[in-house]
Amino acid sequence: MSTNLSSALVTNEPAVDFATRDHPESSPDSEGRSEAIYAREQKYLMGLSGSARRLGRAFVRAQGCQVYDADGRQYLDFTAGVGIMSTGHCHPTVVAEVQRQFAAFVGWHDSASEARAQLVELLAGLLPERLRHLCLFSGGAETVEAALRLARCHTGRSRVVGFSGSYHGKTAAALAVTGHEARRGWWVPEEGHGGLLPYADCNRCPFQLERSSCNTFCAEGVRRSLEALVVDLPAAVIVEPAQGTQGNIIPPPEFLCAIQRWCRERGVLFICDEILVGCGRTGAMFAFESAGLSPDMLLLGKGIASGYPMGVLALSDEVAASQRINWVSAASSSFGGNPVAAAAAAATLRVLCDEGLIFNALRVGPTLLAGLRDLSKRFDFFRNPRGRGLLLGGDLVPDGRGGQRSQALGEQVVAEARARGLLLMSTSGSLRINPPLCISEPEARVGLERLGQALAAADPGRGPR
Ligand SMILES: Cc1ncc(COP(=O)(O)O)c(C=O)c1O
Repeated sequence: MSTNLSSALVTNEPAVDFATRDHPESSPDSEGRSEAIYAREQKYLMGLSGSARRLGRAFVRAQGCQVYDADGRQYLDFTAGVGIMSTGHCHPTVVAEVQRQFAAFVGWHDSASEARAQLVELLAGLLPERLRHLCLFSGGAETVEAALRLARCHTGRSRVVGFSGSYHGKTAAALAVTGHEARRGWWVPEEGHGGLLPYADCNRCPFQLERSSCNTFCAEGVRRSLEALVVDLPAAVIVEPAQGTQGNIIPPPEFLCAIQRWCRERGVLFICDEILVGCGRTGAMFAFESAGLSPDMLLLGKGIASGYPMGVLALSDEVAASQRINWVSAASSSFGGNPVAAAAAAATLRVLCDEGLIFNALRVGPTLLAGLRDLSKRFDFFRNPRGRGLLLGGDLVPDGRGGQRSQALGEQVVAEARARGLLLMSTSGSLRINPPLCISEPEARVGLERLGQALAAADPGRGPR
């Protein structure tokens, strides 16, 4: 299977002949084992994501872009498991490295290890010279938390500015700069909250302008909003180079450059959160490179270790020189950068580069985008197809042009897709399409076909269902 997958990357053939299989929901093997596992957990577990609740079943194995549930049903994964499976599920090289390291040495506090040494050397080789000071953590929110803590230490100021629609994690400081409405509903600490500015989403322009004639006014708009903050200067501005949680929104680079320019002029730190969009997903190793940015802090996570928990905070020379950031234990933790996580991340970076997966994102991404555009011509309610590399999305707008996105319709499309063997995610009435970076052209085409069938089945124009 693993050999098939590797050759699939070279020959463009799908690893599994899933296209000819029966509709997975109607598989004769189905005995409800998968749903039974979910039901057993539900007696005790709380707080699961909407995707896990809607799925309501258990997966037992996966390879590349294919995932199998406990009843043997097969699914094509257009989500990379919320963006974490960059090299594909269970990439053989990553699996072997993790197994080898776990059997040899799991960790002793944050002591040095060959695996960690290799990881930081690899990262340093990929990052610009200015950003080669690294701190390692066990996940995204912990990395965001550390970035905000160190930004405050460095500047001696406490407020941090975020953007509407953003998502930075569920720890207290990360929530304070998160703009995603549903997430802010829980509880947002006042402390250090520097306000949320409008994000440049061209399909829902905060300035009510049209992209064809706006002259990228959002760059000037964000500058004016930032300038209004100078009376109580923030420590930092944190921004995602593309917003995943809002439906993979890609802003004009001018908007991001205007934020960076203002930060430089005012001595405010410019933080790029690439936890979702970094490590090859947009067709470049780092999304900030394509936008011509040079952040003071860069945050990586999710796909960096092919599903193994890991977060990386890269600091600029200027920030790293700060005395308080060099205090003992400023960025240590029980698990951060442990040898097994480091081995997973180092193997992932090698696979991304050696197997041409970033190039693959640039090759298969346009096929998917063209397919999404075709679907939006066929289905009036599927609008604004967009994407860069393998970060793609589209909106579900049942009430015609100018209408609101419908999360109910999004959930229906996701359910119809799942019934046809395609795993999708929707948030805020947008589809998020971000498959593993190893996806082949035939797999992309099969996924598009299944998505087309799901859209046809969910079509609100068909009347009450
Ligand atoms: C941009 C961004 N930052 C931070 C996080 C938080 O990462 P984690 O879920 O690993 O805590 C996420 C998670 O979705 C994210 O997309």
